[in-house]
Amino acid sequence: MPTLRLPGLIDPHVHVRDLGQAHKEDWDTATAAALAGGITTILAMPNTQPPIVDAAALARYQAAAQARARCDYGLYLGAGPDNAAALAALAPRAAGLKLYLDATFGDLKMDQLDRLVAHCAHWPAAAPLVAHAEGHNLAAVILAAHLAGRSVHIAHVSRRDEIELIRAAKMKGFAVTCEVCPHHLFLTLAQSGLPPGYSEVRPRLAAQADVDALWANLDVIDCFATDHAPHTRAEKEGAHPPPGYPGLETALALWLTAVHQGRLTLDDVVARMHLNPRRIFGLPEQPDTWIDVDPDLAWTPRGAALFSRAAWTPFEGRPLRGRVTAVTLRGRPAFDGERVLAAPGAGRNVRSSSLESSPQLETGDL
Ligand code: DOR
Ligand code: ZN
Repeated sequence: MPTLRLPGLIDPHVHVRDLGQAHKEDWDTATAAALAGGITTILAMPNTQPPIVDAAALARYQAAAQARARCDYGLYLGAGPDNAAALAALAPRAAGLKLYLDATFGDLKMDQLDRLVAHCAHWPAAAPLVAHAEGHNLAAVILAAHLAGRSVHIAHVSRRDEIELIRAAKMKGFAVTCEVCPHHLFLTLAQSGLPPGYSEVRPRLAAQADVDALWANLDVIDCFATDHAPHTRAEKEGAHPPPGYPGLETALALWLTAVHQGRLTLDDVVARMHLNPRRIFGLPEQPDTWIDVDPDLAWTPRGAALFSRAAWTPFEGRPLRGRVTAVTLRGRPAFDGERVLAAPGAGRNVRSSSLESSPQLETGDL
């Protein structure tokens, strides 16, 4: 196959860690990793240290991103027990609102139903709402969003019962969209081959039947997101390994390998890594921005070679086909296949102009 030219990819689910946990990753290394993976826009999660739950924290993280980001970015706000009313005014400056209904890294888990309902009511209907919601919590957030007359995007769907519930909700016309991560489509708990600490991730790796169900319901999956969640090797090998996998630099190659195997089409990939996330999250166009890909190039990911500070990958040594050879961001070379050329500070905030000037946000069914 000849070299491919694709639009800059969008990852709506990335953990950057800057400020309090920069030893894991910061805006410089996260966005270098993104560009090396063909991703020109990342939306960053709020379970940082400190968490992004108010205007002051949002401003601090925006300043860090403005100084260090090499690709474009947006920042999520985190739903807390008592910030539902205050967050609404910040919506134009945020990528979206993130609800943590299940346990994961950080302290943002929200247990009370009345808090969930309050956030669905206060957060503007035209602004993206993203939920980590597994099992029963998935049913709860779909209903709460529907009753509030708003859309909801479900993060990292991993199980058969969940993807089937999302299909059923979509068929009823509920405004629900979802994303799936590479690790939930290419790894199972039983066969990941990962040592115990390294296998920790939320949602957990699932069974082969769940992986099969995700592939069988591909038409229900709106986005491929990485949930890039870097932790150091020492942390993963320690007594209390934090959950999460780095993913920015391996995602596209995994999808392209699946294209080679006839499991996906290139259009499937472009829809889920560019068109759909752009529409769902109301992202501005990036003019003169594209990625060049050698779809045949065979390579094996090596943790030590990553731009991510994590320096490990759950896909270590896996034979892959397809690699980014160049990235052009706003007409300037940003990655040449080996070196990241975009400088820290080259990235722009996708919400630097207000929501009103962005493309129409998703509010209806898909
Ligand atoms: O495994 C995970 N780690 N899942 C998440 O949703 C959060 C993430 C993290 O922040 O480390
Ligand atoms: Zn996450």
